Amino acid sequence: MRTDGKLEVIVAGDVNADLILAGVPWLEPGKEKLARDMTLILGGSSSITAFNLARLGARVGFVGVIGDDFLGRFCEERLRWAGVDLGGLRRLKGRKTGLTVWMARGARRAGVTYPGTVQMLRAADVPVAYLRRARHLHVGAYFLQVQLHRGAPALFERAQRLGLTTSLDCNWDPSEKWDSGIRKLLRFTDVFFPNEDEARHLTAQRDVRRAAEELGRLARIVVIKRGPKGAFVWSPEGSFEVPAVRVRAVDSTGAGDSFNAGFLSRFVRGAPLGECARAGVEAGARAVTRIGGTAAFEEL
Ligand SMILES: Nc1ncnc2c1ncn2[C@@H]1O[C@H](COP(=O)(O)OP(=O)(O)OP(=O)(O)O)[C@@H](O)[C@H]1O
Ligand SMILES: [Mg+2]
Repeated sequence: MRTDGKLEVIVAGDVNADLILAGVPWLEPGKEKLARDMTLILGGSSSITAFNLARLGARVGFVGVIGDDFLGRFCEERLRWAGVDLGGLRRLKGRKTGLTVWMARGARRAGVTYPGTVQMLRAADVPVAYLRRARHLHVGAYFLQVQLHRGAPALFERAQRLGLTTSLDCNWDPSEKWDSGIRKLLRFTDVFFPNEDEARHLTAQRDVRRAAEELGRLARIVVIKRGPKGAFVWSPEGSFEVPAVRVRAVDSTGAGDSFNAGFLSRFVRGAPLGECARAGVEAGARAVTRIGGTAAFEEL
């Protein structure tokens, strides 16, 4: 593990495990059914982005919270294996690491999450000394991390004052309020990465272009992820669409988080937005070819 030296990106956010059961018949109360396959793999929107970004060659540090249990040690081992600096990982005694159980049947899936330590990260867990070592700060799964909401705008403002750029992925809002202070945070956000559905809920605009424009009054650059339709990028210099890369998709877990990793791998090195977005759709497409958000990046 690297404990000193320069980092390109600090990812702060959720880290948990995913248990993906494939070929699951629909469940019925009182009956036991058999799955065809199962995969235990690193999950968590932010930790998937950190893992895949490191595999794409970036120097990445991670700030997050795990429990002192098997799943926590499992997540830690996977991030370390990918070369992620774990100087900002906190292990909480007596707490349980989060777990999502996905049940997939063909292309459809349903999941249930026990958030555990995922909901315990606070903005104060990101030390200024750690920020000083990096060029960019990314936060994933904003809505899920309730303790992060209060301090997040000040954290992003501090990062920008220190010369870092910032990015944010909100993911689905389990409270379905689509607020949690995100508008204040977006004013200190350089790149915002919602998907199409999330952008619509945040703005009440049906049209992706309109939604991007509205969010662009808050964040500097808005990148809307559109699944197999690719992505739409809005910036003050103009907007454009990027088509998806055609692949045989087997599991969409972590596609958006991988898109973020691809995009940021170029963005932190000063590449033009078109190149960043192409790297995003390539990484998103790579992710869907294997079961789990990081499996295809282990093979890189
Ligand atoms: N079936 C697919 N084929 C090719 N590329 C895909 C496919 N699904 C997703 N992608 C790529 O991955 C990107 C991100 O996927 P998506 O729009 O589903 O993000 P998301 O909803 O944030 O995902 P997540 O479930 O990880 O939060 C897309 O913009 C696209 O480039
Ligand atoms: Mg997403």
